[in-house]
Amino acid sequence: MDKKQIITRLKELRREDPSFMDGKIISSVSTEPLDIALEAFRIFSDTNALDTYIFPSIQKIEKDIIKWFGILLNNPQISGYITTGGTEANMAALYAAKKIYPKRKELVVPESAHYSIQRAADLMNLRVRWTTLDENFKADIDSIKSEINKDTLAVIATAGTSSLGIVDPIEEINDLCEDIFFHVDAAFGGFVLPFLGRRKIDFTLVNLDSLTIDPHKMGLAPIPAGSILFKDNSYLGRLRISPPYLPVRTYTLSGTRSGGSIAATWATLMYFDFDGYKKIVEECMENTKFLCNELKNIPHADLVTDPELNIVGIKIPNAEKVAEELQKMNWKIAVNRDMGCIRVAVMPHVTREVISRFIEELGETLKKFCG
Ligand SMILES: Cc1ncc(COP(=O)(O)O)c(C=O)c1O
Repeated sequence: MDKKQIITRLKELRREDPSFMDGKIISSVSTEPLDIALEAFRIFSDTNALDTYIFPSIQKIEKDIIKWFGILLNNPQISGYITTGGTEANMAALYAAKKIYPKRKELVVPESAHYSIQRAADLMNLRVRWTTLDENFKADIDSIKSEINKDTLAVIATAGTSSLGIVDPIEEINDLCEDIFFHVDAAFGGFVLPFLGRRKIDFTLVNLDSLTIDPHKMGLAPIPAGSILFKDNSYLGRLRISPPYLPVRTYTLSGTRSGGSIAATWATLMYFDFDGYKKIVEECMENTKFLCNELKNIPHADLVTDPELNIVGIKIPNAEKVAEELQKMNWKIAVNRDMGCIRVAVMPHVTREVISRFIEELGETLKKFCG
């Protein structure tokens, strides 16, 4: 194929999928990347973050990102690295935990945790003790208490669950974890909660060992970009390995890593910075409120629970059938079969206009199905 044919073919294929800016994607926790981030990606597209011998500059950029997180999370001692996403970050956290407590074999995990925790447990031959949720879908503290024992390696809490954006009682769980590894999966909420200032998810929690926070979710960076953030440098020390074929040491789960995505994350963080994120988060929360208010006018649609973050669960009868109908109108919609609800992630591309259009079409569809 010549260059023109390649580009034509790729554009053709890309047009088969929607774009965030079409105003119909309400199921995704990612969004349209910034042009400056794509430019940053391009500048560093030939770099490998593993190979700090050839590419030391990418290490400087990554250190800068971690320092930025240190300010956000009140911890100048913070350490960590950019992962491919929340899944790898959760795995890195539990891998570090296993290195610290090699004899312990159990994880205590609320039912609402992301499936990557189960994956990590399987890979490391750990047993998961699942704990129940309270009536607001938050981790039940008594259930966690009752599952902790001398074989507990780690307790995991979530700040922004995948289904409903629920924030577990992090402070209370923190109090239970004096001699246990405590990991908070804030893949989604990590770029929301610190800017709302309502709930504490930072390293002032004395027992907190690690946090997952994903730049490619509410950090608005291009995919792939997650992050694992540890209380101090000693955790990374436990993950260190020296490949015999390279003049470098590494502490990441993956080998070769895209320097492009690290540069793109840096560009996004520097562009928005703390004030920019605060503004965006406030707008998303305003739009979330708007969606919840508009839902009150639609018969047969109810909130699963009052949202704490910009993820909304909408309970409707025949959720799968209704979603199918909306999909025919080009809506990209996530259905939670267990809960019989639709999940709307009110990302920056989910504007008031998008919400109004969705409400109108949801209302019409429900009328058709439920009268
Ligand atoms: C709470 C939570 N943790 C982890 C993940 C996994 O993130 P990724 O898909 O980037 O691996 C997700 C994904 O949505 C999530 O919602």
